[in-house]
Amino acid sequence: MTENEPRKPLSIAPAQGKLGVLTVGMGAVSTTFIAGVELVRRGIALPVGSLTQMGTIRLGKRTEGRTPPIKEFVPLDRLENLVFGGWDIFPDTAYEAAVKAGVLEQRHLEAIRPFLESIRPMKAVFDRAYVRRLDGPHVKQGRDKFELAEKIREDIRRFRKQSGARRVVMIWCGSTEIYLKPHPVHRTLERFEQAMKQNHRAIAPSMLYAWAALREGVPFANGAPNLTVDIPALQELAQQNQVPIAGKDFKTGQTLLKTILAPGLKARMLGVHGWFSTNILGNRDGEVLDDPGAFKTKEESKLGVLDYILQPNLYPQLYGQIHHKVRINFYPPRGDNKEGWDNIDIFGWLGYPMQIKVDFLCRDSILAAPLVLDLVLFLDLAQRAGLRGIQEWLSFYFKSPMCAPTVYPEHDLFIQLMKLKNTLRWMMGEPLITHLGREYYD
Ligand SMILES: NC(=O)c1ccc[n+]([C@@H]2O[C@H](COP(=O)([O-])OP(=O)(O)OC[C@H]3O[C@@H](n4cnc5c(N)ncnc54)[C@H](O)[C@@H]3O)[C@@H](O)[C@H]2O)c1
Repeated sequence: MTENEPRKPLSIAPAQGKLGVLTVGMGAVSTTFIAGVELVRRGIALPVGSLTQMGTIRLGKRTEGRTPPIKEFVPLDRLENLVFGGWDIFPDTAYEAAVKAGVLEQRHLEAIRPFLESIRPMKAVFDRAYVRRLDGPHVKQGRDKFELAEKIREDIRRFRKQSGARRVVMIWCGSTEIYLKPHPVHRTLERFEQAMKQNHRAIAPSMLYAWAALREGVPFANGAPNLTVDIPALQELAQQNQVPIAGKDFKTGQTLLKTILAPGLKARMLGVHGWFSTNILGNRDGEVLDDPGAFKTKEESKLGVLDYILQPNLYPQLYGQIHHKVRINFYPPRGDNKEGWDNIDIFGWLGYPMQIKVDFLCRDSILAAPLVLDLVLFLDLAQRAGLRGIQEWLSFYFKSPMCAPTVYPEHDLFIQLMKLKNTLRWMMGEPLITHLGREYYD
């Protein structure tokens, strides 16, 4: 059977009971997400930027006129069912953390103040060796990394009990850790767990959260560029425990624009000599990324994008000589309101040069929050549909999409969207859409 023939829908368990959302880190992104969900639930604001809440999906032929909202087409959980918890190295409630993050206006925060004040982070597993620019008092103590991870498992169980959540999703919204290369202890689950007990340097705190989530059967998404769940040991655990995982690094701001513009230039066979990207950013994320170790992790994540989209190996005359530079500058006056400049040196017919300048005055957490929501709802759906391991169809949300070792990651936003929507059609037993359209002219 080809992928395109009609097939039976997957059997998807209904979304019974509450859906718990555990965010690692209660900083700018996670509080903007949590507050946003509550504001939407109360009808105070709109979930702009969220495909699950605002998007539609075309089904069948264009003549059929079937375009339901995505949230009605697939059995996603409803926002009303979400309950929240998380961890941070600071004990601030979600209200205090949101005020400090300075993303949402006071009128929005005051409207839901008691709700936000009721969300208190649990003590974090944290090690300054992995995030040098931060330190906080709200951290767990433990004999070794294994014991610390076991404490995270206990937190998850307690959260389930106290919140009444029947299902839980965990999402890393914590700071970017220093750059770690894959290490032999990441290769198998057995070696990984031994290394946890030996306090091995190659095991970062984010990996302990991911391990705890997967051991508890909780889907895990990684919103930062850290290696975290992108290692064979944890992928083995995800397969074994039948848990979906996704990552890494939310695709917002400058990289989002890059993956919108670059496919367009390539589609027209316009050449690119150089792409210079620089940012000023003043939030805590910017401060953490001011450390060269953390920036290296981010840089690797941002640089891969153009190579995969432009494919210089296939088009050496157009993209073989490209100079790609990315800079992030910590500049406190801007807070969360980042400014990202791109200078793109392109060339056209007969090699004549042209330039494109982009100046994106964006709001990082405003762009990231709807991605957190979509990932939570889609990962929960994936789990109820029996999908496990890497969910490549969620590449749409990430700067460095995780994928099988046999393929290269797909970065083109439009291919990613097609893949996502076709996956939803496939889940529901609808024919996939190829855009061939011969039948309209027969
Ligand atoms: N906002 C965006 O557009 C965007 C895009 C891509 C990736 N990201 C990534 O998302 C993450 C969150 O961004 P943010 O702007 O909310 O940053 P933030 O600094 O406001 O929040 C991160 C929070 O994580 C906490 N934290 C750090 N290590 C922790 C640990 N081990 N356990 C528990 N808590 C921990 C910090 O105390 C902080 O409160 C960052 O890694 C960032 O690089 C953000």
